[in-house]
Amino acid sequence: MTYPYQIKTLEDYNRQYKESIENPEKFWANVADNFTWQKKWDKVLDWNFKEPNVKWFSGGKLNITENCLDRHLAKNGDTPAILWESNNPKEQSRKITYKELHFKVVQFANVLKNNGIKKGDRVCIYMGMIPELAIATLSCARIGAVHSVIFGGFSAQAIADRLLDAKSEFIITCDGAFRGAKDIPLKSVIDDALVGNKTIKSVIVYERTQTPVSMIKGRDVWWEDEIKKVEASGNPDCPAEIMDAEDVLFILYTSGSTGKPKGVVHTIAGYMVWTNYTFVNVFQYQPGQIHFCTADVGWITGHSYIIYGPLSAGATSLMFEGVPTYPDAGRLWDIVDKFKVDILYTAPTAIRSLMGCGEEFHKNKNLSSLKVLGSVGEPINEEAWHWFDKNIGKEKCPIVDTWWQTENGGIMISNIAGVTPGIPSYATLPLPGVQPCLVDEMGKEIKGNNVNGNLCIKAPWPGIIRTTYGDHERCRQTYFSAYPDKYFTGDGCLRDEKGNYRITGRVDDVLNVSGHRIGTAEVENAINMHTGVIESAVVGYPHDVKGQGIYAYVIFDENHPNANLSKQDILQTVTRVIGAIAKPDKIQFVPGLPKTRSGKIMRRILRKIAEGETSNLGDTSTLLDPSIVTLIIEGKV
Ligand code: WTA
Repeated sequence: MTYPYQIKTLEDYNRQYKESIENPEKFWANVADNFTWQKKWDKVLDWNFKEPNVKWFSGGKLNITENCLDRHLAKNGDTPAILWESNNPKEQSRKITYKELHFKVVQFANVLKNNGIKKGDRVCIYMGMIPELAIATLSCARIGAVHSVIFGGFSAQAIADRLLDAKSEFIITCDGAFRGAKDIPLKSVIDDALVGNKTIKSVIVYERTQTPVSMIKGRDVWWEDEIKKVEASGNPDCPAEIMDAEDVLFILYTSGSTGKPKGVVHTIAGYMVWTNYTFVNVFQYQPGQIHFCTADVGWITGHSYIIYGPLSAGATSLMFEGVPTYPDAGRLWDIVDKFKVDILYTAPTAIRSLMGCGEEFHKNKNLSSLKVLGSVGEPINEEAWHWFDKNIGKEKCPIVDTWWQTENGGIMISNIAGVTPGIPSYATLPLPGVQPCLVDEMGKEIKGNNVNGNLCIKAPWPGIIRTTYGDHERCRQTYFSAYPDKYFTGDGCLRDEKGNYRITGRVDDVLNVSGHRIGTAEVENAINMHTGVIESAVVGYPHDVKGQGIYAYVIFDENHPNANLSKQDILQTVTRVIGAIAKPDKIQFVPGLPKTRSGKIMRRILRKIAEGETSNLGDTSTLLDPSIVTLIIEGKV
């Protein structure tokens, strides 16, 4: 494949950026021309941020799997599409060429059809990191079904909530997943989520761990048995469903500042163009290279840079089932050497945890295949950046610090490997099509350089969120109402004297724990479900490895029969309601919370206390009961 829109020089970047802003329709039409369409679009872009209503390539007809699979077959059918490394280093790795992947997707798409799944149906996918997960998502896309992947760390309750919200009637899962030293019994979690559920019509189960599972008559079927039926029917083909450019490709739930996670909706054509364009440019992918993104497909990074970005570019995408520290902290480097990885895209939390493990895990590794390193998910601190640069990149690989969000579909602000300069802890410059701006608390744009503000985006890019599933008003309120005519990111940001952007972290009540987005309200709701808890307040605090840790202040009812409430009980409740990823790192029982006279919790004060600050707490005079602050400081854990 060739990528005529690949930025090769600084001049290219400047020219493309200028064109994309001055004439976005012409610019994106030129990029989109490089894809396979059943019918070209009538209009490149229609938009307003009031409703919001954004349409890219309307009138266009296509199927994303024809772009990710079929179009590569003639020339690159034998190129590996997916390489897979098991959790267990002794288990044989897998190589799936484009021809094979196409065959498997078509075959499984027929399984979906045989199970009654049709265009527009929502299919929930709850699987471990195995190629079948990519096959499941692509098969949905093949027949026009909407996938909603749920990260394997979420609990039964969290799955039940998402199934209900997405009105899903179908589930694809595994008996279990291997992750480090642990096995996760995925099917049994699904069974718990489905207790009393009458709407789920079928659950397709892939056997990975040979964990015993209970299969429910008339509802649960084995993946392999269903494949055999398709084979026996002698009809292996499944023509790609012809989809509208703005039909929904997937829903992905993410946390915000309110309690309930929202289903971010991405549509087909814009998302495809955006993930492909950003993949090819930011990482400077060259045909034949091996791209290794360590994210989980349960998160947006896995959707965009394990599946859709790389596969639409005919690239080879390496997928890893396990975790960076298993069986030891050298695992990622072993994988890099084993597959001669060219591009390694990972998260600051992984880097920080490996940094602390000692140099014996990387010093004898070769790592000479590496050409580009990438970071995503949270601000990368300078120490981690330099460690990554020196020990892994051997000071010869550009590091791209890529800022973006689930709602963005793909990378928004980043240096371009080897083309635009990287600066430790800076995401640097916007990609073509992205118009960032900083605003003050009043919503006024802060012009000029060397300024700080809330990060907004002024105009749509192809990968922008279209709606929150089932509740468009929520999408408007969350992203488009704080600052009229702008998309608000929820991040704070600094623009330096040269115009480079540095993300300083969330300015709303969203935490970023090990690169996972968690809403404080969500954790509070879970804690409050425990009998005996009267009220709680959750804040983040700086954590060496996780970036942010979760600090929970809990008031419990001493007169309650369950007065011997333990911290363990609270942790278990959170694990049940959300999943282990949202467990507080610290819990402090408090006699009260600092509240204003109108009853609002002063989180600013709680955050400062959690950070270890005891004196400079700012103005506490508006508090209903200022003495509570002293009591909380005294009891700090
Ligand atoms: C944060 C992940 C600083 C940010 C793709 C954003 C970052 C949130 C960076 C989105 C980065 C992501 N530098 N902060 N390079 N990348 N973030 O939706 O706060 O899981 O709003 O998407 O992660 O997290 P999400």
